[in-house]
Amino acid sequence: MRFKSFFIASSLFLGLTQLCYGQAGTIVGSKHDFSLSNNTWNFTTPITAQLQGQICRPCHAPHNSNIRDIAATGYNNNNAGAFGPLWDHSLSNASYSIYSQGYNFWREGASSVGNPDGSSKLCLSCHDGTVALANFRTFTTATTTMAQFDGGVANLGTDLSTTHPISFTYNTTLATTDHKIWDPSSTPSGVHSGTIQSDMLEYDKVQCTSCHDPHNAAGVNHLLIKSNVGSALCFTCHKL
Ligand code: HEC
Ligand code: HEC
Ligand code: HEC
Ligand code: HEC
Repeated sequence: MRFKSFFIASSLFLGLTQLCYGQAGTIVGSKHDFSLSNNTWNFTTPITAQLQGQICRPCHAPHNSNIRDIAATGYNNNNAGAFGPLWDHSLSNASYSIYSQGYNFWREGASSVGNPDGSSKLCLSCHDGTVALANFRTFTTATTTMAQFDGGVANLGTDLSTTHPISFTYNTTLATTDHKIWDPSSTPSGVHSGTIQSDMLEYDKVQCTSCHDPHNAAGVNHLLIKSNVGSALCFTCHKL
């Protein structure tokens, strides 16, 4: 009896924790599951023989990953640790238009938005549409880019002035200057059990991964890090 109710209570507790922190998703079956057959670019000779439709491999390699590429483009110099996550995809050399601070900040003053850095460069290696999806390491002759894949719906292009600002520092100082954002060091993220700073920022910076999880752990639309129903994601950081 006791054991049973303990079991039920713990299952309820676990269930609630999962609901609260949304750890119910998986990359399998998501848009980042490149083993799905619509990803024809991942099933083209000579890639087929080597990759066999793997999920992780277009992004990561277990050995001899693309460390030189990472070093050349500054991923490891820009706050993201010395190695990068065993990155395998060829990086982009594009130069970007960045979010204009002209509007932002005449009222509040604020952050300094620079060129994309950190893990956002990894995302842009596919999502800026300039590098073929199947270009990684020794495979460099593929041609289908994000701009051509699936009608280009996931292609952000190189004009990031139309995308939420990324690659800038969001810390307590910024939250003091701009009184309409929460202090990231003390505000809960609702993603895991930590703060915005610990769960959503990369070395204190807003990056693509502040809003998205490439592995779809939350299992919500658009690979978001948490549900945006009722704009909950936006309200996490914005105090409006
Ligand atoms: C579409 C590209 C993409 C795919 C596919 C992908 N990852 Fe990642 N992964 C990333 C990026 C980008 C990062 C760095 C940013 C971050 O930490 O979220 C990362 C980080 C990681 C990390 C270190 C951080 C962490 O979350 O623990 C691990 C481990 C990892 N990936 C494992 C995997 C495995 C295993 C697979 C296949 C099941 C996989 N990834 C598939 C893009 C991808
Ligand atoms: C991880 C935290 C975070 C999340 C999540 C987030 N933002 Fe932001 N956003 C910021 C920060 C920080 C700034 C820069 C504010 C500043 O510099 O004063 C910003 C800037 C902006 C700006 C530019 C403001 C201006 O004056 O130019 C807009 C608009 C905006 N966010 C909208 C959104 C929307 C819509 C969402 C939800 C889809 C969202 N944000 C989600 C942190 C976040
Ligand atoms: C190896 C190339 C590659 C990399 C690297 C990559 N993606 Fe993707 N991503 C894709 C493809 C392919 C799709 C599916 C596009 C489609 O179906 O139109 C996609 C889809 C998406 C979607 C749309 C999901 C949906 O359900 O609408 C989001 C959001 C996304 N990626 C974010 C990211 C972020 C953030 C990163 C970095 C952390 C990243 N991607 C890295 C290839 C990549
Ligand atoms: C402030 C939060 C935020 C940031 C930062 C952010 N995104 Fe998104 N992204 C969203 C939301 C929310 C959506 C869902 C679409 C919508 O609500 O219009 C989305 C949608 C997408 C889509 C799907 C587009 C479509 O129409 O299917 C892709 C691809 C994508 N994001 C990639 C990226 C990449 C790559 C980065 C970094 C360069 C990035 N995002 C940064 C919040 C963000």
